[in-house]
Amino acid sequence: MINICLTDLPEWKKLENHYNSIKKVSIKQLFKEEEGRGKDYSIATKSLYFDYSKNILNMETVSLLTGLAERIGLSKEIENMFNGEKINFTENRAVLHTALRDQTNEPLVLDGIDIKKDISFTLNKMKILSEKIRNGEWKGYNGKKIKNIINIGIGGSHLGPLMVCNALAKYKKNGLNLFFVSNVDGSDLAETLKEINPDETIFIIASKTFTTLETITNATSAKKWFLSESGERDSLGKHFIALTSAMERAKDFGIPEENILGFSDWVGGRYSLASAVGFSIMVSIGYENFKDMLKGFNRMDIHFRKSPLSHNIPVLMALIGVWYNNFFGAETHAIFPYDHYLRNFPSYVQQLEMESNGKSTGRDGTKLRYQTGSVSWGETGTNGQHSFFQLLHQGTRLIPSDFIGFTGSLNEIGDHHLKLMANFFAQTEALAFGQTEKELIKTNMDKDLIPFRNFEGNKPSNSILLKKLTPMALGELIALYEHKTFVQGIIWNINSFDQWGVELGKQNAAGILKELTEKKINTDLHDSSTSSLMEYFFRVSDKDEEN
Ligand code: F6P
Repeated sequence: MINICLTDLPEWKKLENHYNSIKKVSIKQLFKEEEGRGKDYSIATKSLYFDYSKNILNMETVSLLTGLAERIGLSKEIENMFNGEKINFTENRAVLHTALRDQTNEPLVLDGIDIKKDISFTLNKMKILSEKIRNGEWKGYNGKKIKNIINIGIGGSHLGPLMVCNALAKYKKNGLNLFFVSNVDGSDLAETLKEINPDETIFIIASKTFTTLETITNATSAKKWFLSESGERDSLGKHFIALTSAMERAKDFGIPEENILGFSDWVGGRYSLASAVGFSIMVSIGYENFKDMLKGFNRMDIHFRKSPLSHNIPVLMALIGVWYNNFFGAETHAIFPYDHYLRNFPSYVQQLEMESNGKSTGRDGTKLRYQTGSVSWGETGTNGQHSFFQLLHQGTRLIPSDFIGFTGSLNEIGDHHLKLMANFFAQTEALAFGQTEKELIKTNMDKDLIPFRNFEGNKPSNSILLKKLTPMALGELIALYEHKTFVQGIIWNINSFDQWGVELGKQNAAGILKELTEKKINTDLHDSSTSSLMEYFFRVSDKDEEN
């Protein structure tokens, strides 16, 4: 960590000067100037092709950005993370999700303990339990096989498993139904339980802390429902599994130790899907596929750790993000997977990036004077094209985007995949190069319409091409975004691994819940808006009851 403010660094000043000279240069012009640009600004690994040529940057930009990263000591910071330094210093924790997918037999000692032993113990326990469920050996309280798996969790204990289970649905075991309940809104649980038989169902309670209001409320209601349906007081052990770092709390809830899959505090919630939190994934796709996913994660981990910064895909993605966020003033960036199975990927990345880097205090405790985490959002292609792409193409905002596509489909039906990918290529081309007035005139277009039909272009994008959506490819893709997030945190001098910003709302909600339960508003504790809203809530909900 350096002690000088990021924006005071000479490397930053150089970038500012460079920005002033390049900001008016269009992507089209850059392509004219550099004949081999498409190839020169691409990186091909064994399994992935990353093209960042359709960005407003040149080799000087890349060199200045990587120069900044070097000045900040990024390579050392990467090593610190992999080696288990307590880089999450506000919680005094190491950050070792990479150890979960390490494929070597080398020990990794943290506080005198070889954590690799714990990792393989849990992985093995996950294997045994998941196989029992998958092969029908695991029986419910009245001897029936398990058909339904309901994962109850929220945030990192929900978004990752949900995203991966949907992404790898092609590899799912037939006859197993997977459900995910996250919201404390009772409708989530009620709709899920509507057509569920308790004797064929396992609830997986996923919560690192085992204190999260939403998860514990849902788990408690699920337990109540289960007991009232089954009438079997002693059968929780056949129907409840916990994934947690808080073994005692899970036991107090009534889950027997043999059904508890643990993980350590050095696994952050949003980085946890390769840990026990991924148990629903393993049940769905099986141990071997899960292991393949870990191999994919590890492949990207190695690329990230070993590649020089200028050929390092997560590093480049992160630096390009900083370039738009801090120099061009872009407020958001979009993620467009051209794959139906990846429909939850944007919201998964949203938590990853926004919970990690939505901070305004530097690691030295000072208030930051520059923008940090940008807003991540997205949708699958081609659906997004028929919804908000209008704004991307002709709106006034600069929205850099990532296009993620596959060379092969998991479901070859006619020419669907070619049509899908034709759109993938066409969109990045149209965004970057647009269509000028001159080109429109050539098409004999009505002159009056030309200002409306004009495409300015110069909208930047990255393209990521993978082969097929296999467990390995998915692992690689997820790790790519994890490491991108880490690098941005280092550049912005942020601790990406805490999330204190979610605490105040939680605390306030606990106080307000007491007032709602007691039907008594303590106006001294609230502003006039919140008090009036609560008053209205009481008034109208009372009337609803009367009606
Ligand atoms: O409130 C935010 C958060 O702490 C996330 O970071 C986390 O993924 C989520 O809540 C769930 O936490 P837990 O797994 O402890 O229930």
